[in-house]
Amino acid sequence: MSLSAKHLLGIKNLTKEDISLILQTAARFKEVLQRPVKKVPSLRDVTIVNLFFENSTRTRFSFELAERRLSADVLNFAASTSSAAKGETLLDTVNNILSMKVDMVVMRHSASGAPHFLAQHIPAAIINAGDGINEHPTQGLLDAFSIQEKTGSLEGRKVAIIGDIMHSRVAMSNLFLLKKMGAEVTVCGPPTLIPRYIREAHGVEVNYNLKETLEWCDVANVLRIQLERQNQVLFSSLREYNLAYGISRSMLDSLHKEVVIMHPGPINRGVELDSDVADSKQSIILQQVENGVAVRMAVLYLLATRDKPE
Ligand code: CP
Repeated sequence: MSLSAKHLLGIKNLTKEDISLILQTAARFKEVLQRPVKKVPSLRDVTIVNLFFENSTRTRFSFELAERRLSADVLNFAASTSSAAKGETLLDTVNNILSMKVDMVVMRHSASGAPHFLAQHIPAAIINAGDGINEHPTQGLLDAFSIQEKTGSLEGRKVAIIGDIMHSRVAMSNLFLLKKMGAEVTVCGPPTLIPRYIREAHGVEVNYNLKETLEWCDVANVLRIQLERQNQVLFSSLREYNLAYGISRSMLDSLHKEVVIMHPGPINRGVELDSDVADSKQSIILQQVENGVAVRMAVLYLLATRDKPE
């Protein structure tokens, strides 16, 4: 079996079969990562560049580790220390790097659609590591993998996505993926941070009440307030946001069940999550990060070997 697409630009364009294949392949790589020798020769002689035009800790290291575990050759690019800072265009930057016989591009960019633009102009396979407010497909995949691992399945699972839905590429990738895989999804947050079209466009429920949402769900994926992407005042203050939508220990203890807590990181402690929730046994935040390496190994492997005979 192979992926239906040459690039991973978003979850929107993947089939249910693609998603299942990635999750199954990730499970095999997760098993490899438990061994004393964690490296396999699968991508020997493949060269990959990680182009990060926007800050990252988890995604950047996770991709680099995944590439090294697969024995690929790795180049790392940070916009601030490159000739992009002197005005070189995205296309010139990428074409110059590709002329050095680079096979695949992993890219994070603040502009929504940047990897889609690149895909129309370069021959190499592209993996979107987060584009503006559009998608963050490998985060959606690692979140799905973590939900499946923790709860047994995605089909019929009740997942709440809580917080700044409007500016979150993680929300969009989660939403596309969970709906394709048969989960039920509710989004929750202040009305100003939830797009008005979301119910009709994506078949999800909207609930502005945090307690009701937590009573309903099996899993709560809590998102960061993305102040850097907001150019107007959309809520009164971080303190008021925390009072209405921050998840506290006392809130969780008042529920009639145990909800799995997720967060893509970085966490604003004391805003969307209190520390005694983020660090509790209910939280699988660090398991998400661990699973990110196996999921990215799966994506890299499946794209790199897509047109190659077994
Ligand atoms: N989840 C995530 O994308 O984190 P980074 O911004 O640190 O990569």
